[in-house]
Amino acid sequence: MIYLDNNATTRVAPEVFEAMQPYLTESYGNPSSAHTFGRQMREAVENARAHVALLLGVNHADEIVFTSGGSESDNWALGGFLEQNPNQRHIITTRVEHEAVLKLCEHLGEIGCEVTWLEVDQNGELDPDDLRKALRRTTGIVSVMLANNETGVLLCKQWARFRLTCVTGPSIYLQFRDTSFTRPKELARSTFVAE
Ligand SMILES: Cc1ncc(COP(=O)(O)O)c(C=O)c1O
Repeated sequence: MIYLDNNATTRVAPEVFEAMQPYLTESYGNPSSAHTFGRQMREAVENARAHVALLLGVNHADEIVFTSGGSESDNWALGGFLEQNPNQRHIITTRVEHEAVLKLCEHLGEIGCEVTWLEVDQNGELDPDDLRKALRRTTGIVSVMLANNETGVLLCKQWARFRLTCVTGPSIYLQFRDTSFTRPKELARSTFVAE
């Protein structure tokens, strides 16, 4: 069999498997438990958190929160932001997001948020001008995937010609499937300005 669906899910990298193996076999304590076994696991989790913070260029490791998966992260990021910023209830997203984001944004639209749904072109790409035009003072969230999970199309391919920043300070969340595309700290600072 030739597996051609690596966009949707793929084999765990051998080095990830190797790093995780002890925690799936011998070292399976609950990091929230007070006993020695638990405390050792807590140390391993904090080590992992520090590594991820370093990788993403985040100053405070406690800003890194591990969740159980994608859907929880979507709900947590968007819902958490809206709770803290009730006046910034304008959301920009696309018609081709992961189902978990589509349904969440539909729901947020039903409970009082304004949602701008951007279309992609026949190649599945997003025009950054459309995104720039959709931004408002009340825009709190821009949720756009980097790579589509069905087609593999890089939605934001042309964004390289834009300086990517937030009009409303750090309050626009840009969500990418692959965070290595650009570092969150850089994202948190800017405005969409055509170069
Ligand atoms: C943006 C997004 N949300 C949700 C999911 C679903 O993830 P999970 O099954 O872990 O909830 C994915 C899966 O790739 C995703 O990319």
